[in-house]
Amino acid sequence: MGCVKLVLFFMLYPFLCQLAFSSSLRHLCSKDQPHALLQFKQMFTINPNASDYCRRSRTLSWNKSTDCCSWNGVQCDEMTRQAIELDLYCSGLQGKFHTNSNLFQLSNLKQLDLSYTDFFGSLISPKFGELSNLTHLNLSRSSFTGIIPTEISHLSKLQYLQTLILSQNNFSGQIASTIFNPKILRVLDLGSNHLNGTIPHCLGEMSGLEVLGLNNNNLSGTINTENKLIIINLYGNKLKGKVPTSLINCRYLKFLDLGNNELNDTFPSWLGGLLLTTEIIINLSRNRFEGYLPSIIGDLVGLHMLNQSHNGLEGIIPASLEHLSVLESLDLSSNKIGGESPQQLASLIFLAVINLSPNHLVGCIPKGKQFDTFENSSYQGNDRLREFPLSKDCGGDDGVLQATTPVELGCNTPHFGLERKSSFLCVDDPKAINPMQI
Ligand SMILES: *[C@@H]1O[C@H](CO)[C@@H](O)[C@H](O)[C@H]1NC(C)=O
Ligand SMILES: *[C@@H]1O[C@H](CO)[C@@H](O)[C@H](O)[C@H]1NC(C)=O
Ligand SMILES: *[C@@H]1O[C@H](CO)[C@@H](O)[C@H](O)[C@H]1NC(C)=O
Ligand SMILES: *[C@@H]1O[C@H](CO)[C@@H](O)[C@H](O)[C@H]1NC(C)=O
Ligand SMILES: *[C@@H]1O[C@H](CO)[C@@H](O)[C@H](O)[C@H]1NC(C)=O
Ligand SMILES: *[C@@H]1O[C@H](CO)[C@@H](O)[C@H](O)[C@H]1NC(C)=O
Ligand SMILES: *[C@@H]1O[C@H](CO)[C@@H](O)[C@H](O)[C@H]1NC(C)=O
Ligand SMILES: *[C@@H]1O[C@H](CO)[C@@H](O)[C@H](O)[C@H]1NC(C)=O
Ligand SMILES: *[C@@H]1O[C@H](CO)[C@@H](O)[C@H](O)[C@H]1NC(C)=O
Ligand SMILES: *[C@@H]1O[C@H](CO)[C@@H](O)[C@H](O)[C@H]1NC(C)=O
Ligand SMILES: *[C@@H]1O[C@H](CO)[C@@H](O)[C@H](O)[C@H]1NC(C)=O
Repeated sequence: MGCVKLVLFFMLYPFLCQLAFSSSLRHLCSKDQPHALLQFKQMFTINPNASDYCRRSRTLSWNKSTDCCSWNGVQCDEMTRQAIELDLYCSGLQGKFHTNSNLFQLSNLKQLDLSYTDFFGSLISPKFGELSNLTHLNLSRSSFTGIIPTEISHLSKLQYLQTLILSQNNFSGQIASTIFNPKILRVLDLGSNHLNGTIPHCLGEMSGLEVLGLNNNNLSGTINTENKLIIINLYGNKLKGKVPTSLINCRYLKFLDLGNNELNDTFPSWLGGLLLTTEIIINLSRNRFEGYLPSIIGDLVGLHMLNQSHNGLEGIIPASLEHLSVLESLDLSSNKIGGESPQQLASLIFLAVINLSPNHLVGCIPKGKQFDTFENSSYQGNDRLREFPLSKDCGGDDGVLQATTPVELGCNTPHFGLERKSSFLCVDDPKAINPMQI
């Protein structure tokens, strides 16, 4: 150990000397860095209207006479004193983002977050592709427009890039058919833009991908999936036909949102193969699903939330749902489901949300446990369903209600997508991605 330290000391000795004799000893960050940062800052004004929780003062503290490594939002490498992280998330920056921005002189950047800012519909500079050490790039909701330059998405120098978030901008055009380093990229979020064309096949080759957000675009085609995916959000596109059977390869899947597309299929009971070990949220709402909910649905024991609302489902609600012991939310609203709502549902002790309205249900609402806590809005629009709360016709007694245990939604449990704060990567970071946003 000591020996290693000694060797290190001699290796660094010339460097230390240089530091010691440097006239600007206080300037710990590498020379070119403050200049580049300040010039970058000067391109923008601070938006006085930025929302209250934004840290508008971030760049105000940037001052030539202090060490740039100590500036808010800047982090330097300990050894090289070069900026390796720049986090100006929600800092109120406002203005045109120039193609030749001084930002691109900070070539050692590994993490760059400029999300939640306002670049006035600037085109995204191909020079982002020159920040070749980037591992994380977050440009979500920053008013970029145009196409996603191939320098970022294609034959990329960004060989270490793990997280690319370009959601909630005004990107249009197609997603390049060869994109991103297939092995490294873990999070790809292009949600809420105006991308169109087909989903490129290469997405299936990204063997490391865990989070895929392409929701709220105009994409069509299908997805050849990869087996590391944890989150797939394709809500609000133009997917047609059946639920892609390749999803069965996604052994780690915890959140699947195919809602608001043009899928016409029956309930994909084959998904059961996925649901034996992990808990999963499935959203197939606002499509053209038909047929019955099969009784085999009771085998999908990992089903945590199911949203099949706004489809054309018929038949009855299978009593086998009672086996879904971790089911917390069931939305079957706006279908054509008839029959009675099975009393067995009352045994689902985690059920916190149910929506069966409107459908063609008849008879009585299950009673007891969770069912004593649901509002009548859960059942409205089922004309022949007996009144709620429990009517005498349904053999209701006054039912002393059992207090129900609130379900804890923490980061330690994989309750993806339940609330804005629960992050689906489960990093304890309030900024963490929210599957409902992407
Ligand atoms: C801030 O909001 C006000 C009122 O909506 C608007 O008049 C003003 O132009 C906005 N300022 C900026 C810099 O966006
Ligand atoms: C920079 O910091 C120095 C010393 O703290 C202070 O005197 C000066 O006013 C600051 N300049 C700006 C532009 O904030
Ligand atoms: C990227 O990082 C490596 C060390 O991790 C460094 O040697 C290299 O110079 C960096 N590249 C650039 C363009 O800064
Ligand atoms: C969004 O992109 C379209 C097409 O590229 C463009 O016409 C429009 O001006 C952009 N809108 C904004 C707000 O940048
Ligand atoms: C999808 O395309 C339609 C028709 O071209 C257009 O009206 C709609 O705004 C587009 N949606 C998105 C999210 O780009
Ligand atoms: C994608 O949208 C653009 C307009 O933004 C349109 O010109 C083009 O035809 C669309 N492509 C496809 C495949 O829909
Ligand atoms: C889906 O739609 C296509 C074309 O309209 C039709 O041929 C097919 O039978 C439909 N499939 C299902 C399961 O409804
Ligand atoms: C789809 O439904 C799931 C489960 O109910 C829910 O978590 C998710 O937020 C829904 N997606 C959208 C876009 O509303
Ligand atoms: C089901 O999905 C729809 C979007 O299609 C959403 O509005 C609704 O809130 C979801 N239901 C539940 C219970 O999350
Ligand atoms: C639903 O319940 C509220 C009180 O909780 C009641 O005021 C309302 O009339 C009920 N609506 C129907 C349609 O039963
Ligand atoms: C990226 O930025 C968006 C918008 O500010 C934020 O919601 C999200 O948490 C950020 N994601 C990461 C991984 O930093």
